[in-house]
Amino acid sequence: MKKTLIVQAPAKINIALWVKEKRPDGYHELESIMQSISLSDTLTIQEVKESGLFIECNHPAVPTGPENLVHKAAMVLLERWNIPPHLHIRIEKKIPVAAGLGGGSSDAAAILGGIARLYDKPMALPDLLEIAAGIGSDVPFLLHGGLALATGRGEKLTYAEPPRPPLVVVIANPKGVQVSTKWAYQNYTPGDNARKEERFKQVLQAYRRRDLDTLKRVTFNDLENVTLQGYPEVARIKEAMKKEPTGLVLMSGSGPTVFGLYHERKAAVQAISMLDQNKVNVFLEHTTRTPVK
Ligand code: C5P
Repeated sequence: MKKTLIVQAPAKINIALWVKEKRPDGYHELESIMQSISLSDTLTIQEVKESGLFIECNHPAVPTGPENLVHKAAMVLLERWNIPPHLHIRIEKKIPVAAGLGGGSSDAAAILGGIARLYDKPMALPDLLEIAAGIGSDVPFLLHGGLALATGRGEKLTYAEPPRPPLVVVIANPKGVQVSTKWAYQNYTPGDNARKEERFKQVLQAYRRRDLDTLKRVTFNDLENVTLQGYPEVARIKEAMKKEPTGLVLMSGSGPTVFGLYHERKAAVQAISMLDQNKVNVFLEHTTRTPVK
């Protein structure tokens, strides 16, 4: 009987993003605190009679050919196991595209786990992580989600217990704006790393304690200024959300999405009320402990 599997692919936010020097391989060395959130895409993987790998997506900006990371992820595993492709994958996007939320990377991560399950081929975690890193820097983290310190180019992970109870997360994404991660990194000039070292050390502790006041003082995203300068609408979103003073407001990844972290839903709703929803896609979410998958 032909099998069907439905998997969830969660978005991530960067609680902190410290971009260090550019490496000989073209990537930047970084340190980042990554947290998965409840906002997620849904992928349906279906075995089909026809020969091939067919991708379908409800979002017009998402490519459905070999350039899609989902395609790449599926083919890597199928080729490894010598299984000819007979698959239909439907991607139901809810995570904004090219937004700094790891949506495409998470879809690929979900497919790696999903295909291993579909063909009943359990894989050793180190193997899976290595394949994931070959697909994209954020893919290894998104295989498991939760909370982790990511180093290297983002693929080396040290897991930590996410804050309990979860924090409320507002996701604010300017409509019609997409940012290329490559562009943001290319336009970044590394700054004074010595001062950042001290601040970065305090971020994880403050975050896990749910100490948003300290977190606001110590955390930073090095790509924020790059994207803020190129896309003034992102700066406007930040300013608007900051009118609700209790939360931490920061850009995620290379943007343009801005997130707000709050203890209470009431404050999150207050921050949302500051945004013009004709111009901004808004999601009210929360941090997650384990994969939604
Ligand atoms: O790994 P991924 O394909 O998601 O990265 C997209 C682009 O972002 C890379 O081609 C590179 O230009 C940039 N990048 C970087 N340093 C990192 C991660 C990404 O320069 N640590």
